[in-house]
Amino acid sequence: MKAIKLSDGIHWIGANISTNDLFEGIWPIPDGVTLNSYLVQGEKTAVIDLVRDWGGAPTYVLSQMESVGIKPKDLDYVILNHLEPDHTGWLDMIHIIAENAKILTTEKGAEMAKAFYNLKEEDIDVVKSGDTLDLGNGKNLVFEEIPHVHWPETMVTYETSSNTLFSCDAFGSFGALKGSIFDDEVPEADFDYYEEETLRYYANIVGPFSTHVLKAIDKLGSLEIDMIAPSHGLIWRGKPERIIEQYVAYANYSKDYAEPEITFIWGSMYGNTERMVRAVLKGIAKEEVPVHIFHVPEDDVSYILGQAWKSAGLVFGMPTYEYKMFPPMRYVIDLLAQKQARYKKVLRFGSFGWSGGAEREFSDKIERLKWDLLESFDFKGAPTQEDLEKGIELGQKIAKQVNEIPRKFE
Ligand code: FEO
Repeated sequence: MKAIKLSDGIHWIGANISTNDLFEGIWPIPDGVTLNSYLVQGEKTAVIDLVRDWGGAPTYVLSQMESVGIKPKDLDYVILNHLEPDHTGWLDMIHIIAENAKILTTEKGAEMAKAFYNLKEEDIDVVKSGDTLDLGNGKNLVFEEIPHVHWPETMVTYETSSNTLFSCDAFGSFGALKGSIFDDEVPEADFDYYEEETLRYYANIVGPFSTHVLKAIDKLGSLEIDMIAPSHGLIWRGKPERIIEQYVAYANYSKDYAEPEITFIWGSMYGNTERMVRAVLKGIAKEEVPVHIFHVPEDDVSYILGQAWKSAGLVFGMPTYEYKMFPPMRYVIDLLAQKQARYKKVLRFGSFGWSGGAEREFSDKIERLKWDLLESFDFKGAPTQEDLEKGIELGQKIAKQVNEIPRKFE
């Protein structure tokens, strides 16, 4: 496997990971993920971000380095933009085989490198915003800290001769690459796949740090960027503005009502809540608002978070279970809260057998989420005809509210 040239002296080295493992031990990646590293060769050579020992990635990276005449002992610098182990898992090995390389990272990154990989003070050079590294032959790197995109130690590296931004998790995506690593070689039809996987990655990984994402984009705004080379997903050289616009939109979804769409999540024990699901959907259908329907526990929360992040409307159908919410729904709502999915138009309903309780727990949980609750209503046992009519009416009402929200991003 050969390294792929981005520009003179700059190459992609990385791996498309295909695995049944969960990303971060939580998120399914049935379509895989890429781990992107980059080689920058001047008179000196730097590798920017690493991989973890996953799906044979280190073997690919070593053979790609070799394809441009680089062996680990030839590396002068290992630059760690971010210490999460998907980008550093291989550090303990590369630290041994790249015996001449100095490790560069931020002050917080250095602390993490010591904690995760038992590195010593003398192994690491600490860099900060505005520091530069001249590799010779016209290759010059500039570092800029972008804390909390994704962890507090994160920085980006910018190469000045090619105007390439090595952005690590920022502008990244789930999903293995299909055929090309470059956005301008992707058929337009494939962008639906990349956008879905970018949205899901954003909601699962980066979402809670949206304020920091917007700060970072603002901070990097003064750079002339011809190419964005993240550590996951496509390299953007045709239209780098496309992925920046996507990230700006996704970050803003947590600051105001998102797109005029509804994510409808439901679970039912014996079909009584399910009967109300059909009634509410009937009401929503009257307003022709796009609806993304998920059934818990069958549908994975990773996908629910992706669509819920983008939707201005959320509908929850859940029965009471032992005086509380249906447990798989509690998991969904806890994660929506943890990821800070705020500003939503919300409707909740469900069946109970004796005293109820889901409604109380739901109201307590959503108190701090800036959710605008249309109604949270329960019915005993099976819904009556009157209950079902109320469901249709509330479905139409929330759909109308959601349809009044202007679309922000196509
Ligand atoms: Fe791709 Fe936060 O690591």
